[in-house]
Amino acid sequence: MIQTLEWTDNGVRFIDQTKLPTEEVYVTCKTHEQVADVIRNMVVRGAPAIGVAAAMGIALGVNNSKAETTGDLKRDFDQICDLIGKTRPTAVNLFWAIRRMQEKYERIRIRPIPQIKRELIEEAQRMHAEDIAANQAMGRHGATLMPSSGGVLTHCNAGALATAGYGTALGVIRAAVEQGKKIHVYADETRPFLQGSRLTAWELMKDGIPTTVISDNMAGAMMSQGKIGAIVVGADRIAANGDVANKIGTYTVAILAKEHGIPFYVAAPISTVDLACPDGSKIPIEQRNAREVTHIAGKQMVPDGVGVENPAFDVTPAKYVAAIITEKGIARAPYDESLRKLAGQEVEVHP
Ligand code: MRU
Repeated sequence: MIQTLEWTDNGVRFIDQTKLPTEEVYVTCKTHEQVADVIRNMVVRGAPAIGVAAAMGIALGVNNSKAETTGDLKRDFDQICDLIGKTRPTAVNLFWAIRRMQEKYERIRIRPIPQIKRELIEEAQRMHAEDIAANQAMGRHGATLMPSSGGVLTHCNAGALATAGYGTALGVIRAAVEQGKKIHVYADETRPFLQGSRLTAWELMKDGIPTTVISDNMAGAMMSQGKIGAIVVGADRIAANGDVANKIGTYTVAILAKEHGIPFYVAAPISTVDLACPDGSKIPIEQRNAREVTHIAGKQMVPDGVGVENPAFDVTPAKYVAAIITEKGIARAPYDESLRKLAGQEVEVHP
């Protein structure tokens, strides 16, 4: 199984996703500042992976703290959470993970310092394990929606690399293939960062799942030629009304799907659902460096001085979404009812 990130005795170890598919190299972060950097620079990316990385970064920072009183340790903890929270704004899993670590801290704050440190590490590791289990459950639910054979289109990378393991959208595809469905994946290359061609294609090839990479502007043609039976993507944040923020270009795919009568599914854990956010217009969209658009593999592709936009995400209105697949089950419209019901089931008691 691909190890996207893991807690080790030396720090938090990540596969460097900026180097794939040509180099499989790993980086180990020894400080929480380094973890913040790898999230910001997209060495690790994908909403659930960002969440687990944040939790491990917090545990790492607290473990490194030289504080000798619980008051000083709490001050360090708050500063660490603050820094990690400033890395990327759209994936709500980041803030969900910070909140969960804060709630954990609140429950153990009067315990001895070594115990606080140990329990935060254990909490982060628990979140890692829970994410894999959630993806496998999502896969079981979502596989029922996949065609028994034929093309399934995905955008960006919502696979093992974007999570603690197995993946959300790719988890659904993996589960369908494990059930014997003969699926051929069409992976949008996903400009400008190329998560589809570099990462989705890499991990599906490793699993032996037949995959064809297309540039983003080919998706409509593939649909009109009858090559696509379903679409499944991940999400960075789902508003209470079912509007979905995901990688830039997802919105275009959803509209094309509607035009061609192809079901457009979103697979995401409940931790991606932000019930405090009423609709997609309130989701903060990260703007990234223009250089990601102007340069490909270090080579300049546009003239100097030209205007460039680089929003990392767009919002797909709920009306284009046929179903939202979560680990708790499948939500359908009206999403303001179905999502609340599924999320409400998540009453967990943490030690
Ligand atoms: O900018 P990225 O690579 O972090 O964006 C990733 C996506 O948009 C994914 O589709 C989303 O996070 C879901 S990952 C399971």
